[in-house]
Amino acid sequence: MKRDLLTVLDLTREEIEALLARARELKAWQRQGRSHTPLAGKTLAMIFDKPSTRTRVSFEAGMAQLGGTSIYLAPGQTQMARNEPIPDTARVLSRYVNGVVIRTFAQETVEELARHADIPVINGLTDTHHPCQVLSDLLTVRERFPDLSHLKVAWVGDGNNMANSWITAALHLDFTLYLACPKGYEPDTALLQQAQKTGKRVYLTQDPQAAVADVQVINTDVWASMGQEEEAAARRQVFKPYQVNSELLKLARPEAIVLHCLPAHRGEEITSEVLDGPQSAAWDQAENRLHFQKALLEWLLG
Ligand code: CP
Ligand code: NVA
Repeated sequence: MKRDLLTVLDLTREEIEALLARARELKAWQRQGRSHTPLAGKTLAMIFDKPSTRTRVSFEAGMAQLGGTSIYLAPGQTQMARNEPIPDTARVLSRYVNGVVIRTFAQETVEELARHADIPVINGLTDTHHPCQVLSDLLTVRERFPDLSHLKVAWVGDGNNMANSWITAALHLDFTLYLACPKGYEPDTALLQQAQKTGKRVYLTQDPQAAVADVQVINTDVWASMGQEEEAAARRQVFKPYQVNSELLKLARPEAIVLHCLPAHRGEEITSEVLDGPQSAAWDQAENRLHFQKALLEWLLG
């Protein structure tokens, strides 16, 4: 049976662990210059309704490195933009290619595509989830802190798709997650309730200082996500106390790392000093998209 990755909750804990281990191995092989082309003859379609640098390039490069091919379908350039139904698109793509990555607005669109496709569907970001990012981020975190069970992770800023994705990761793995979000900008309530009901250590506060105290990982993201451009000015006011800067970073553990999925708005959610500083893991984090997604593609399409 085909498998999809629409949210982290589509995977079991064991599958996440296996993918992380495989990603580390593929990363090492790439460093050694070892060729590995299990996806020769396979094709990945990539439907993008929003812009992208990392997701597009890491999936395309990953497919090429694994011996396969990818087809980038830019915003507005498929017949879906002219209202061809998603189920029809899913059926047709299933006759041509071996998998689909889709970046779009509504999570329901990704779910509908997956329901009607005979091939694996990978969520390349929606308004509510970005599973490939958080799973790659776990690889980055693991490289620095092998034992997740004693790890404290803070999320500072908008309760957006990345915040939700971190909650889904905490539902499967054993780290403690503190989220600091302004009132009215909280992550998905159902996910928070699920964490509470299952006894997971996921805590929501409005106080960024409290959230980062003694943590090993600080995470942030833009204050206005793609599709929220017209709210950007208003959000800049609300989110001002949530900037990840040197003062805030001092409250975390001395060995703490800072993650940002990028693109970053320097001087807003993060200062240049922190993003370019010695505790920033953002560039390794961007690189690890490639290695994690290669493990994912190999598993789903292989
Ligand atoms: N982090 C991330 O998904 O970046 P892109 O928007 O550039 O793909
Ligand atoms: N929250 C951001 C993430 C970008 C990778 C957005 O959705 O725009």
